[in-house]
Amino acid sequence: MSSEQKKIIFSGIQPTGTFTLGNYLGALQNWVKLQDEYRCIYCVVDLHSLTVRQEPKELRENTLSALALLLAVGIDPSKSVLFVQSHQPAHAELNWILNCFVPYGELTRMTQFKDKSAVHQDNINSGLFTYPVLMAADILLYGTDLVPVGADQKQHLELSRNTAIRFNNIYGDLFTVPEPYISKEVGRVMSLQDPSKKMSKSDTNAKSYISVLDKPEAIVKKFKSAVTDSGSEITFGEGKDGINNLLTIYSAVTGLSVAEAESRFAGKGYGDFKLAVGQAVAEHLRPIQEEYARVAADKAYLEQVYKAGAQRAGEMSRRILQKTYKKVGLLV
Ligand code: AMP
Ligand code: TRP
Repeated sequence: MSSEQKKIIFSGIQPTGTFTLGNYLGALQNWVKLQDEYRCIYCVVDLHSLTVRQEPKELRENTLSALALLLAVGIDPSKSVLFVQSHQPAHAELNWILNCFVPYGELTRMTQFKDKSAVHQDNINSGLFTYPVLMAADILLYGTDLVPVGADQKQHLELSRNTAIRFNNIYGDLFTVPEPYISKEVGRVMSLQDPSKKMSKSDTNAKSYISVLDKPEAIVKKFKSAVTDSGSEITFGEGKDGINNLLTIYSAVTGLSVAEAESRFAGKGYGDFKLAVGQAVAEHLRPIQEEYARVAADKAYLEQVYKAGAQRAGEMSRRILQKTYKKVGLLV
């Protein structure tokens, strides 16, 4: 298939500290797999990060580190467009227009806003509230067909779809209505300390999440102390959130099905199982960590990648932005 006929994928990730195993298994692993079949555009969404107060120097470092990690997990800039959101002004420009088309009521229903404003009560800013509108701008600028994200972003995607449909109903077809692309195997990786919550890097308990750059010993230790239920059988089932989560993770990093993983641990205890999951995860992340160390040290290469990415992204988004300006009546 020529690149013109391939469907378009867009996704973004915030540069806020290193990525977790949840980011990796829930989202990034898919990003890598999709590169051959689709035209992929991947973005480090630094503007979204500003919705939470950032230390400027740290944000700059985290942005570079996020780029290096994306390259290390296997995003290939010769196949995909990889860039930093603030390097492409079209995102902020379309964001404003879309702001004028998203009802206040729809934004008030966003669960991520409710969660984040509960955590950051001292800084409930308007950007946090309109966060999903900028995300819609990211997606709609490129005529995106599919958006690979973890299950937690489904509601935001729904808002992007509604916005595209609403706009098209008023002005005629302009925006492609995007579909979510959520991994069936790994929708959501849960916290190791409270398997009813998603694994998150903003969790105050560092034992609850694995960072993709954690040292092998630390990874094994965190899995050993993972919270499980009081049963003893390593099988997937109702009311066994902890074991279910570990089985999902084990299967994702080894490539075995959950059923194969269950039979591998038949008759074994939770202790053995947790150790094996920790070792398998550490083993899986080892080459990524090695590649990260190499790429992160090469600042000139990183700069070359993000500059070329921003240029490509600009070429791709200009047309839709211009059309939008025209449709709404701006003098172009
Ligand atoms: P965030 O870290 O919230 O910026 O999320 C970046 C990407 O990782 C999004 O596509 C999320 O849906 C995905 N993601 C984050 N945490 C998890 C998790 N615990 N399980 C699965 N996917 C996740
Ligand atoms: N909101 C997403 C998250 O927290 C990140 C994001 C921003 C995104 N823009 C996007 C994801 C566009 C997909 C498409 O994970």
